[in-house]
Amino acid sequence: MIEYRCFRNEDPPRLADIWRTADLGPAAFQPMTAAWLEACVFSRPYFDREGLIVALDGDRPVGFAHAAFGPNASKSGIETSTGTTMVVVVVPHDQHAAIGDALLARCEDYLRRRGSQTILGGGTPDIGGFYLGLYGGSGLPGILDSSPRMQEVFARAGYAEAERIAVMRRSLSGFRPPVNRLQLAIRRSTTLRVIDEPARRSWWEAAATTGIALRRYELRGQDESLLGHGSFWDMQPLATAWGVVAAGLMRVDIEGDRRRRGLANYLIAEALHDLAQEGVTIAEAHVVAANDAAMQLFLKLGFQTTSHGTLYRRG
Ligand SMILES: CC(C)(COP(=O)(O)OP(=O)(O)OC[C@H]1O[C@@H](n2cnc3c(N)ncnc32)[C@H](O)[C@@H]1OP(=O)(O)O)[C@@H](O)C(=O)NCCC(=O)NCCS
Repeated sequence: MIEYRCFRNEDPPRLADIWRTADLGPAAFQPMTAAWLEACVFSRPYFDREGLIVALDGDRPVGFAHAAFGPNASKSGIETSTGTTMVVVVVPHDQHAAIGDALLARCEDYLRRRGSQTILGGGTPDIGGFYLGLYGGSGLPGILDSSPRMQEVFARAGYAEAERIAVMRRSLSGFRPPVNRLQLAIRRSTTLRVIDEPARRSWWEAAATTGIALRRYELRGQDESLLGHGSFWDMQPLATAWGVVAAGLMRVDIEGDRRRRGLANYLIAEALHDLAQEGVTIAEAHVVAANDAAMQLFLKLGFQTTSHGTLYRRG
């Protein structure tokens, strides 16, 4: 008989055990410890124990699932009208599928009780706010194709694909920014600022990036106006587990009226050069596959799609 209950303070070592034993694929940090779960999950100020459901077979912990929300429009608090089940983690067990299904159903109950009308599956940079550095890579790409058993839980429950997210990577060994007339013209007419540990601009950003080393690149015009910016983070602890020094793109944004002039290409190429000189060997970016502009930008910069994740939506 499997028992389901919400998180208790003595659970972290059990959850780390479950994570280590479940087959989550190469994009899950291993070996998981209670300390890393504490740093990337339980210490977040918006962590709600009611949203983390644990499955026990007698005394043996056999699975957990975690439901969460994203920020409100001003990023000053949580918005519960949309909620997501970020992960469903089940150890090898003869009732594996039934445990996953029951965990997901309990997460959905929790989300509905908190007022969610839109119910998703998987995390993205804008929804969830947990597991960055523990699952996915430079961001949270929904549920990765390399975690097929987790994807099956959402498929069995009738979730549809809301977004496909491409995991794109580029080796930075010997990276040189492209040299052409457009890039030289941009270099002459702009200034690139490098800001380590930039001030977080909202409660959500501060809360979701606690303990994460960020570097922000700002491209400014001659009049100091902001033309665009991009932020990378040191992808710990995942990168150490992979044996590389990796920088993950959090976001790149060019001001609306300045797009299609080569600015993003220049900004990201300069950032990659800077990161390569600091010893970073791999850069990673997650791009919604339907975002043609961003997909083309990263392909042009020499990134390759290495895998995909799916963000699910409850029908
Ligand atoms: C994606 C984005 C950063 C591109 O910035 P940009 O300064 O317009 O890009 P560039 O002018 O440097 O373009 C570089 C290449 O990207 C591709 N590209 C850029 N915009 C494109 C578009 N609208 N459609 C198709 N390809 C596009 C092209 O291949 C382009 O090279 P080309 O002009 O020689 O064909 C910009 O559209 C943006 O800020 N979008 C909103 C935020 C976002 O989606 N960020 C990405 C998520 S991480």
